[in-house]
Amino acid sequence: MEHYSDSPFRQIVRKASPETVVYTEFISVDGLKYNPKKVSKKYSYDPIENPLIVQLFGGDPDHFVNAVKMLEEVDIAGIDINMGCPAHRVVKCQYGAALIQDAPQAWKIAEACVKATDRPVTVKTRLGWAKNDEVIEFSKGFEQVGVKAIAIHGRTYKQGFSGEADWEPMYKTKEALSEMKVIGNGDINCGQFAIDKIGNLDGVMVGHHTFGNPWLLEEVHRSLKTGKEVQIRPSFIEKIPWILEHCDLQVDYKGEEIGVREIRKQLGEYTKGFDGARELRSRLVRVDTLAQIKEILQEAQETLSCLQIEPSDS
Ligand SMILES: Cc1cc2nc3c(=O)[nH]c(=O)nc-3n(C[C@H](O)[C@H](O)[C@H](O)COP(=O)(O)O)c2cc1C
Repeated sequence: MEHYSDSPFRQIVRKASPETVVYTEFISVDGLKYNPKKVSKKYSYDPIENPLIVQLFGGDPDHFVNAVKMLEEVDIAGIDINMGCPAHRVVKCQYGAALIQDAPQAWKIAEACVKATDRPVTVKTRLGWAKNDEVIEFSKGFEQVGVKAIAIHGRTYKQGFSGEADWEPMYKTKEALSEMKVIGNGDINCGQFAIDKIGNLDGVMVGHHTFGNPWLLEEVHRSLKTGKEVQIRPSFIEKIPWILEHCDLQVDYKGEEIGVREIRKQLGEYTKGFDGARELRSRLVRVDTLAQIKEILQEAQETLSCLQIEPSDS
């Protein structure tokens, strides 16, 4: 996920949930063609992130092939093609979700990628452009060109991120295919929700509810594996060493000035669900240095330990 699932976040996810398969943020194939030095940082990774899927977006099959060849040189597990992003800057170029409206071009891109690599190629898309069953026919074309799996976000382009995700069309898509795997996506916020939604699908993808809560992925994994909800909900005090590690990784990865600036939003996400969270959050989202983060969290740890505060919903 853009601005979130960078290498430090993915490393934390894999430590919290070793069975989770992580994806990079989406990476422009045009960027990889014309500005490879700058853009390739987005797929630099630590071995703990393996199996890592690199997600690409764009519209020109040749640019995809060029990107796939570049990725062949680093040992990534697979390539995912973004055909679901609704952002104006993406759709206006006929990239991302716009490809749902041009199925032949979408299939051509997927086919070019499949032919260019032995690694699995997957697609991430939405239910449709405006109607929530368009994905059924759309998916069939990917199966024909050798795509291994399709992840479906249960909203149309028109819905953006509003309303509830609709999982029914995903089940129908799975029924309509013979071999391609179908991964369901949308609104998963706990293990029970994943159990309730997986139906006939091959797996689930969990997005924004992992912000500040990478343990959710382990909860979902274990819940699906056992068929019974397994709750993994560390207290804020238990989270502190993880948060500090995340910050250290971020500063190593981006340098202190940019690293601290970029991690502020994640600090805000971690600091939820206990008495005093709001005040702590407002301090953490204004930090400028790693030392400040450490000082604030140490203070919080001491205060919370003294008070033995139980989680609540503030
Ligand atoms: C901040 C943010 C960034 C995202 N970036 C991407 C992205 O780069 N590629 C992608 O396929 N989906 C991206 N998404 C969409 C999510 O992968 C997911 O499809 C959507 O949020 C619904 O699932 P969820 O409820 O589990 O988050 C992003 C979502 C958010 C909120």
